[in-house]
Amino acid sequence: MKNIGVIGAGHVGLVTSACFSKLGNKVICCDNDVEKIEKIKKFIMPFYEPGLEEIVKESVEKKLLSFTDSIYEVVKNSEIIFIAVGTPSTSEGKADLSYVENVTVEIANSLKKLVEIEKERKIYRLIVEKSTVPVLTSEWVKKTLQLLSPTGIEFDVAANPEFLREGSAIKDFFNPDRIVIGVESERAKKIFEEIYSPINCPKIFTDVKSAELIKHASNSFLALKISYINAIANICERVGADVELVAEGMGLDKRIGKEFLKAGVGYGGSCLPKDVSAFIHIAEELGYQFNLLKEVQKINSQQRLLIIKKAKELLWNLKDKNIGIFGLSFKPETDDIRQSPAIDIIDLLKKENANLKCYDPKAIENMKKIYPDIFYSYDPYEVANECHLLIFLTEWEIFKKLDFRKIKEIMKMPYIIDGRNFLDYKNLKSIGFIYRGIGRKVE
Ligand code: UDX
Repeated sequence: MKNIGVIGAGHVGLVTSACFSKLGNKVICCDNDVEKIEKIKKFIMPFYEPGLEEIVKESVEKKLLSFTDSIYEVVKNSEIIFIAVGTPSTSEGKADLSYVENVTVEIANSLKKLVEIEKERKIYRLIVEKSTVPVLTSEWVKKTLQLLSPTGIEFDVAANPEFLREGSAIKDFFNPDRIVIGVESERAKKIFEEIYSPINCPKIFTDVKSAELIKHASNSFLALKISYINAIANICERVGADVELVAEGMGLDKRIGKEFLKAGVGYGGSCLPKDVSAFIHIAEELGYQFNLLKEVQKINSQQRLLIIKKAKELLWNLKDKNIGIFGLSFKPETDDIRQSPAIDIIDLLKKENANLKCYDPKAIENMKKIYPDIFYSYDPYEVANECHLLIFLTEWEIFKKLDFRKIKEIMKMPYIIDGRNFLDYKNLKSIGFIYRGIGRKVE
């Protein structure tokens, strides 16, 4: 087993740290947010991810996982160092790589300090891009390390993008469809072969640039698939066809596949929107206008507006109408609201002066930070009470188990908009609801 360092204790870094330690490696996870580190040491996780807390506890107790705010600690004790810091979007939609640069500089400075303290000891470090970065980032990481690291240091820079989905990140780490590794030396390749040996899946070794591109190309293709089926849903609405049936018929073709053909209010999250935008920008910097992805973005934004259009078709004026929002997170099984469709839709409904009441099993506290002035409740029936319309934006499993007969009784009007096409509309109609889906043929 190896000594592994992970810089960044966000969704990617903390999950990666926990899972590598679960495989028996000695892992140090670092973050510059001291408060976050102190909380994690008390097993208070910075976000909800099924199974994460248990693995962290177990590995810390086995002394296979520790936490620090010192990059020097990581560099001193780890042969492999994963850079897993955020690469958020800038205001113009590019990837902000300043955190990656800052960490790279700190790694170089730590190497310098290490050589001074360790004197002549030959030091090798494998620096790995785990964060989602635009292609060619590794060139900058390498250049920075070469410029600032002391002589006598041997290092490699590699790319090992993650394909973790929030809400199933632990499962995705141990059961990935593939592991992508971009390396430039046999030595680096052997290290990756060792640390990933316990995981049985296709492992594709490429050059670093190809590995960087696989990540952006994959996430953008997933976003494209979603916007494509949402475009089909818009056509279904115009002809009275049912997008769920169209998607089923399409997905049976192995070349298309049934995954990511769920029409609805569109994609959100901390990855797809950011990665599509970053990919468009890096392509433009390379002289290629990625118009296809610009259309993917446009369709995704229009899906939010479709919800408001449907609400107006049902309620006429939205002013002073009581509208219940069920589902604030960008997807189920997470408390994450980053780029969640709910943010846009709440904004649009507030502009219509509707009275909003919101419920989500996990994400209320996070949404309160953005919209403190609207009503929230952990009681779905309190939210539904006196509402003219309920809008479901996240397909939380527990929403299917709500007592819709009771809800029908306490609502002012029997309107439901299902932004994820996941409710049993035949049952809802039998109870007396007027149901609207996205591209659904509802008799
Ligand atoms: C995504 C990628 O799936 C993952 O491989 C990558 O590492 C990170 O980004 P994540 O953002 O966690 O993962 O969630 P994902 O399950 O991909 O869903 C993203 C968004 O697309 C969600 O808002 C979801 O509601 C939406 N979606 C997904 C659809 O609208 N339709 C679908 O068919 C699938």
